[in-house]
Parts: sequence; structure tokens; C-alpha cells
Amino acid sequence: MSMTGFRRWPLKNTAGRISGVVLVFHDQRLTDESQMAFSERLFGPLESTLKSSGKEDRLHPKLVDLSNIDPDHDTKLMGWDDRRMIYQSGNQLWHTDSSFKPVPAMASLLSGREVPPSGGETEFVSMRHAYATLPEATRRQADGRVVVHSILYSRSTIAKGLFDPEHERELLPVRQALVRVNPVNGRKGIYIGSHAWYIEGMDPAESRRLLDELLAHTTRPECVFQHHWRQWDLVMWDNRCVHHRGRPWDATAYKRVMRRTTIAGDRPTAEPPLATRTPVWDGIIAQGVGIA
Ligand code: OGA
Ligand code: MN
Repeated sequence: MSMTGFRRWPLKNTAGRISGVVLVFHDQRLTDESQMAFSERLFGPLESTLKSSGKEDRLHPKLVDLSNIDPDHDTKLMGWDDRRMIYQSGNQLWHTDSSFKPVPAMASLLSGREVPPSGGETEFVSMRHAYATLPEATRRQADGRVVVHSILYSRSTIAKGLFDPEHERELLPVRQALVRVNPVNGRKGIYIGSHAWYIEGMDPAESRRLLDELLAHTTRPECVFQHHWRQWDLVMWDNRCVHHRGRPWDATAYKRVMRRTTIAGDRPTAEPPLATRTPVWDGIIAQGVGIA
């Protein structure tokens, strides 16, 4: 990969230290094969994509396909009312990739194959800056807590029935540390996002309030880095220390075709990684699923 137009976004925290990692490489004319090959060669094993009724199976399972081109009619664009686009609109909620899996993703590489002239930006915030600027009392409330994450929960906030019932049963809620510590440098970040459902051992309403407050703090407008895409940009981020979200665009007028490779993580953030069923699950997770 050439390093043309390399730009690093080191969000500085109040002490002037680098606090989140997003890398932007311009002019990377990748194919699906070259993207998978170099991602794996440089950074390690790739994650496989989630199957969902909103996605096509025409691509390699190690590629995430974000596209508004109708897979059944190559020239037709799908609008935001299309089920497959409703599923994809989940990416417009702040999140970190695969936090709903027992071993969440380490990094993601997103390639802009076709990008709209306006809208469709991707935004990033630093989890570490968020933790460092938390009021002392909130930090004490957060330290040592475990959050249950589920993609069935996050997608349920958008629409019902986005997954096939058989597939749903495989998507078990998982436990993640609320304050995620990087084992290499000991730095802490607030690990939440759209899949973060509730904090274990806390009253559900109180837990929702705290998660909402933490997300609002983490995503304060002055902390957001917005990437405006050029065709053939490759953007890479560290899912262990940044949250991100996509922004809407006029999907019936403009194509937006992106491909993501996802570098697998190496360990869970909490032990044991699977959550235990509670009454909060009723209505979201099928009866009989999960550890009683
Ligand atoms: C992703 C993602 C947002 C976007 O690829 O993981 O969330 O802007 N993308 O497409
Ligand atoms: Mn994402």
C-alpha cells in the first residue's frame, strides 16, 4: 500500500496527549482481494461478517458490504425506506465494531469505493478523552462495571424484525467492561455505544440514564472528528479506543459503496463473556435463549 496523502488524526486530550487513533490514507485503489490480503498480512486475522436479512451474500464473508446499490438491480439505488438500508442505518448510531461479540473487534479498515458529493461522512470520538474528562463522581460510578451489549437490542431501537428468527437465537448478549483498559499501556476508555444495553447489577432505568449520560459526554460536538470522504480513501480506526458513526446522505440520488475489513480482537473484555438472562431480555431476546 502506498502512503500517499497519509494523515493521522491524533485527538489531543487536555494534557496534550494523543487520545484516539484514526488513520486516513488517500488514493488507495483497493479491490476486495487486495483489501483482505493486506489487512490480514499487516494486522492479523479478520473477523467474519454477521449474516443478516439486510445484507447480501454475494461478497466474501470477511468483507462487510455497505452499499445502497440494490443487489438485485445493479443500477437501482435503495432509499432509506428499504429494509436493507434500515438495517445499515444502525451504523449511524455511535458504536464500536462488534462490541456485541464475545471477543470484540480490534480495528476496522473502511474503503470508500464510491462516495456521495455531500453527506455520508464518518465521525469519530475518543473513548480515552471521554474517560479522562469525566467528573470524578461519574468515574467512580463507572469503574469496574460490566455492560451487557446486544445487536438485537441496538437494532430493536430502529425497527422490528431485522434478523431471521433462527439467526437471532445465535446472537447472545455479551458482557463488556464499561471502562476498557488497554492491556499494553494501561490507558482507560469509556466503552459503550449503540449495542450497550444495560449495566449489570444496577436498576435498569438508572443504568439507561447513566449510559445515555456517558454517551452524551463522550460525543460532545467539540470532541468529534468528521471525515469527509474522497473516493479511494481508506480509513482505519482502533475499535478499542474510538467510537464512530456514519452520517446520512441522499441515498436515492447518490451511490455510496464502502467495503470494510475487520481485524479480530484477541480477548474478551470481561469474564465470563456471556451474559445471564434477566427479565430485561423479555421482548428482545427469544424465550429460552441464554444462560438462565
Ligand atoms: C463501519 C461503519 C460508518 C460509515 O463500517 O463500521 O460504521 O460511515 N461505517 O459507513
Ligand atoms: Mn461501524
